Amino acid sequence: MNIINNIRQLRSWTSINRGTRCVFVPTMGALHEGHAALIRAARELAGQSGNVIVSIFVNPTQFGPGEDFSKYPRTLIEDLGLCRDNGADAIFAPKAEDLYLADRSIQLFETSLSKTLCGTSRPGHFDGVCTIVAKLFNLVQPDDAVFGKKDYQQLAIIRRLVRDLDFNVVIHGIDTVREADGLAMSSRNRYLTEEERAQAPVLRAALLKAREAYVKGGERDGKALQRLVLDQIAAGAPAGRVDYVEVVDASTLQTPTETTELVLIAVAVFFGSARLIDNIELK
Ligand code: PAF
Repeated sequence: MNIINNIRQLRSWTSINRGTRCVFVPTMGALHEGHAALIRAARELAGQSGNVIVSIFVNPTQFGPGEDFSKYPRTLIEDLGLCRDNGADAIFAPKAEDLYLADRSIQLFETSLSKTLCGTSRPGHFDGVCTIVAKLFNLVQPDDAVFGKKDYQQLAIIRRLVRDLDFNVVIHGIDTVREADGLAMSSRNRYLTEEERAQAPVLRAALLKAREAYVKGGERDGKALQRLVLDQIAAGAPAGRVDYVEVVDASTLQTPTETTELVLIAVAVFFGSARLIDNIELK
């Protein structure tokens, strides 16, 4: 496995590997089983002859003031082991100074999909994500990139980024990996107290109930589905504080219309300082 620490080394890696299919897994490190599944999915897409490259970079521009940038877990040694064990060929782990020059003056802004859901409480977050992902796509020049469906809004925004800025990269959304009790894996789960951890799986249970009401019970009223999820969370997770529960079109992230092909329910709930998100596609 190649460990690439700066842009010069990356350019030489991409030039040596030109012509070989390249599948990219962007991450911020603190890797867990959810990332392992992304790397394995990338390995499958690349086949034995292709390359899987994982970036590990805690991107400062996607953290707001008062968010957990300095506290964000940095576990590079363990991360490298997980990447190796799951079939990565190369790791790109640059320094912040390498990617962001002190006098930089250009960045991206997203003006629609980022205005709902997590974007409401994290202004500027998705602008930072778009900027770093565009930079990484330019540097790595992948044929494909994989993103987890847990961060569904991020996935929808990356698809829009690729469409609107004509990146020649195929985006693949990969199913969320869960603990045995249904809790979506996240590097933020480590912040939960024992009591919060015990209540957190209620998010998944509430979303499954809502999907059942939609698929089996024929419930099409967004407000009723929202109420159902809110009631389940209130009953099962008194330690949680709901940030939002929204029923949206899965690609526009706006209120579903007659042309909506896939409906999504997305939730965000604070447990202490940890803000957990989850979602479910209604199909
Ligand atoms: O999902 C993440 O870990 C980050 O938002 C990403 C896509 C690596 C950009 O920093």
